[in-house]
Amino acid sequence: MHTLKKLFVLLLSFSIISCKTDEKTYNQGINITPKPMELTLKDGKFTLKNNAIFAVKDEAVGKVVDFFISKMQRSTGYSLSKQQNRPANNYIDVNIVSDLDVNNEGYTIDVKDAGITVEAKTPQGIFYGLQTVMQLLPAEIESPATVEKVWTIPNVSIKDEPRFKYRGQHLDVCRHFLDVEYIKKQLDVLAMFKINKFHWHLTDDQGWRIESKKYPKLNSTSVKRTEGEGKVYGPYYYTHEQIKEVVAYAGERFIEVIPEVELPGHGVAALAAYPEYSCTGGPFEVRNIWGVANDVYCAGNDATLTFLTGIIEEVMPLFESDYFHIGGDECPKDRWKKCPKCQKRIKNEKLKDEHELQSWFIKQIEQVLLKHNKKMIGWDEILEGGLAPSATVMSWRGEKGGVDAANMGHDVIMTPGGWLYLDHYQGDQNVEPVAIGGYTTLEKTYSYEPVPEGLDKNKTHHILGAQANVWTEYLYSPEQTEYMTYPRIIALAEVTWSPKEQKDYKDFERRIANQLVRLDGHKVNYHIPIPEQPKLSADFVAFVDSAVVELKTTRPIKILYTTSMEEPTVNNSKEYTAPLKFTENTVLKVRSALSSGKMSAVRTIKLDKQTYALATASETEVTSDMKVEYYKGKYFKASELAGKTPVETEQTESLRKVKYRIPDYGEISEDDFYSVVLTGHFNVPEDGVYDFSTVVDGLWIDGKLFIDNEGTVRKNMKSGKSIALAKGYHAIRIVRLGNIIGGWPSQWNSVDVSWKKTEQQKFRPLK
Ligand code: ACM
Ligand code: ZN
Repeated sequence: MHTLKKLFVLLLSFSIISCKTDEKTYNQGINITPKPMELTLKDGKFTLKNNAIFAVKDEAVGKVVDFFISKMQRSTGYSLSKQQNRPANNYIDVNIVSDLDVNNEGYTIDVKDAGITVEAKTPQGIFYGLQTVMQLLPAEIESPATVEKVWTIPNVSIKDEPRFKYRGQHLDVCRHFLDVEYIKKQLDVLAMFKINKFHWHLTDDQGWRIESKKYPKLNSTSVKRTEGEGKVYGPYYYTHEQIKEVVAYAGERFIEVIPEVELPGHGVAALAAYPEYSCTGGPFEVRNIWGVANDVYCAGNDATLTFLTGIIEEVMPLFESDYFHIGGDECPKDRWKKCPKCQKRIKNEKLKDEHELQSWFIKQIEQVLLKHNKKMIGWDEILEGGLAPSATVMSWRGEKGGVDAANMGHDVIMTPGGWLYLDHYQGDQNVEPVAIGGYTTLEKTYSYEPVPEGLDKNKTHHILGAQANVWTEYLYSPEQTEYMTYPRIIALAEVTWSPKEQKDYKDFERRIANQLVRLDGHKVNYHIPIPEQPKLSADFVAFVDSAVVELKTTRPIKILYTTSMEEPTVNNSKEYTAPLKFTENTVLKVRSALSSGKMSAVRTIKLDKQTYALATASETEVTSDMKVEYYKGKYFKASELAGKTPVETEQTESLRKVKYRIPDYGEISEDDFYSVVLTGHFNVPEDGVYDFSTVVDGLWIDGKLFIDNEGTVRKNMKSGKSIALAKGYHAIRIVRLGNIIGGWPSQWNSVDVSWKKTEQQKFRPLK
């Protein structure tokens, strides 16, 4: 393989120099992604012209060809057709060759001046071969409208097949629903990158998204929730007809749809409709906060198993996959420990504990699936208490579950959070839209190696592949969901398709420029790195004499800026090449620009010339304590607290000691909300510019509102901001509101204000 890699790289560098067939930099060179196993560049080129002919004999292949004819006609404006015999030139000859030396998904391509030949053992291989032909053509081939262009491909021969047979994307449609149109659009795009599994997470605590004719209350009660802010979200679910439509659509793109119905945890939405299948009998509401609920299906109640069996048997026929995902993750055992039925089950079945009860429960469901010849997939918690004999394990809490399961002889799909959770931040959290946490850049996802260390050498075949997961707690819109998915899902595609020996992030990064133009053809709202500041990405920078702003992006992309208040465009901006120095008040607007001309979101950085604000109290006037006032109830604005009487008042010597009646997060209720107001002074050790970072709703310094986070989702530290302060005591007021915004109850956070002198390394808590 090493020589092969060298060959590829050599040919590739040659091709970059020699294939300037297109004026666009992103179209230069070979951009096939995922990178093929073998590619040889030859002299000459093929140019696709009007009236090109697809030569096809096989009927199933004819259907595949029709798919590409309609796509290519749209973008080229050419008339394309298929016939049995290959003409002398301007052809794409497509053949099934049963003894071709590639696996069932593999293909070969031979491009000559006269035409292209694609061969494979199966229609699926032909489909991937033709996707590669698309990738050889200029990126505009994916355009939804006609583009005037010379459609040229360098002469190449390619032999390609996937490294793994499972190349997947997961999508959570429970936390935020995504309609059929969105799903189809994603399937179109996933297929371009040869992804072949779509794991559809259809049920969870916050919503049930699949029709049930057997249990109709699932379609009324379970499909909507009242959000923390009071709005009703939903009703949203897919009908049986829509599910079938998606499965068929995916099938035409050789994508297998794997449904997930979660059990025994993550079932509150269903329990809201049928509380009799819980341990306590309810009542429940469809959960409006994220996380893990303590209320789960009762494992001691036979009727619960009958209910879940009924559901599974009802929805199973809608899907063609051999797999059925039953969830199995994050099932707290609190209820089972106290439930007489569950305890009786443990006793009768001679189980050791509640973990074995979970294992017993899942084995019952496994029997249902086996009866219908379906294979069970579960998250790695299904290892706890004993793995069901036929289970395939999805390893998400790192790689250990996957290693253990594969060493036990079970099939495994790797989805470890650190690399493959696409709900994680892909840039600085002070710059990016709020996300669940983490930090997973494109490069990090690309660096993933699906065969984990620690696996027995003779068990590697149990690693079926890998999958990237798109959980949607913080993905409030389809656009935001795409923003998190792309381009990282393309890294997953290459990780699971291309030979390990060919891994080369720099080359991937180069090819991504071309791939993003293809995504433009599908109107995908992909992530473009936003300029960040290396130390603290603050949108408000105070200075006394001068400020220096340094900018970077998570991958090399041109940065444009203006100081004229205008949004940067190619015409009105300068290109950032070195740190910028400011001595006057300035509004700096920055964004990055891809070679295609497409630009990132604009960041506005205010540079504010200040003098050191004088201390507002002397040492004798202040105590070291702060006054704390607690207000009961939900508040969304600090101003709403005016005139209200606190339920409790006290002094605190440390913000960390502020009482947070933090309930178990599985149990939070409407009564649990308190707002807190703190007032006091803090001691500034020396004249200087100080950076603050906080998740509180409001922070006042010397009577002036300094940080305003009202109405934002405050899971993560935001609002980096600086201020020039003179040595001495300054008045401070902190407001932390109790509420739920966007599924996140503020109750779970502390009052957290941290600060540091600008240019110093570390933030420290206010006290
Ligand atoms: C999971 O992320 N709870 C599987
Ligand atoms: Zn129970």
